[in-house]
Amino acid sequence: MLVLGIETSCDETACAVVRDAAEPARRIVSHSLFSQLREHAPYGGVVPEIASRAHIEHLDGLIAESLTAAGVTLVDLDAIAVTAGPGLIGGVMVGLTTAKALAYATGKPLIAVNHLEGHALSVRLSDSVPFPYLLLLVSGGHCQFIVAEGIGQYRRLGTTIDDAAGEAFDKTAKLLGLGYPGGPAIERLARSGDAARFDLPRPLWRKPGCDFSFSGLKTAVRLALESCGDAPTQQDKADLAASFQQAVLDIILDRARNAIALFDGMHGARQKDGTQRHFVAAGGVAANAALRGGLVALAEKHGMAFTAPPLNLCTDNGAMIAWAGLERFRLGLVDTLDAPARARWPLDPDAAAKPFAGAKA
Ligand code: KG4
Ligand code: ZN
Repeated sequence: MLVLGIETSCDETACAVVRDAAEPARRIVSHSLFSQLREHAPYGGVVPEIASRAHIEHLDGLIAESLTAAGVTLVDLDAIAVTAGPGLIGGVMVGLTTAKALAYATGKPLIAVNHLEGHALSVRLSDSVPFPYLLLLVSGGHCQFIVAEGIGQYRRLGTTIDDAAGEAFDKTAKLLGLGYPGGPAIERLARSGDAARFDLPRPLWRKPGCDFSFSGLKTAVRLALESCGDAPTQQDKADLAASFQQAVLDIILDRARNAIALFDGMHGARQKDGTQRHFVAAGGVAANAALRGGLVALAEKHGMAFTAPPLNLCTDNGAMIAWAGLERFRLGLVDTLDAPARARWPLDPDAAAKPFAGAKA
């Protein structure tokens, strides 16, 4: 089975061809990505209108490149998968309309994929992790704990009540003058910094549940930077980057302890019969080595196996969309050509019914 995947929901134009090989290493047949970093860098963040235009400009060429690299043509595909949301609506529409046109012209089935399901299943593409698993989804737009119970079956345990973790990295980086995207820049700078120098808050620390809050942390970073005077040194900035990263790590680990307890409450029987319990991290922030290290140790302490996809499958990519499409297609889950583009599209329908003030879709 061969599936083309198209991703255009934010600032990466990406596509890939995947197949359902038993061995994970053989699943990605081809993989193309155009990162719009340079287009958005002067503005310090993603500009939706610029993103849509860049997707239009690059998508056709990338699809052709992916098919050529895979040594196939559209006729060889079994299905066409595409991100239908959530994300920047203009970009989503570019990808979705292109995929619909290809599906219509070739008669191939269309699979409208939720971008979050793409992240959620990326670890099954890279590592064949079995359901159920506890998933920490940390990206630029999302920060949630989810129990993944099957394809299309997700229960949200907690989410952010203000900013997403990646957003906090990006805003802190902007304050420190590091440019966009902030995550990798903060991680690099933090290596030469002292994480104990600035005493930053850990919002919701030791509170029950596994919701997140990062906006107080962002304000504290601004105040700490101001305390360094008009011309903070490179060392000041490195110390602040390290202190910030440590605070995010502490917050996530604190919330993760509660999420593990909730997960065990739901799937405790498995624990007793000795079945391996799985903790998975996905999304752009899961590329952070300090976070991965902290989560590995925490999972080990709780007797869980920790898995995160390789770095290039953590950040947005076409392969995870193609793979989610493939998993859905195997179950007969196909969509019609009137599938809508959605700016908001929560993975867990119950979670949508209990909105959090300011929470992202
Ligand atoms: O999953 P993703 O590529 O796009 C969304 O769906 O949001 O995540 C992008 C986010 C950005 O906020 C970026 O700063 C963050 O992931 N990120 C990182 C790292 N690499 C990317 N954050 C922390 N450390 C990193 N190494
Ligand atoms: Zn994403």
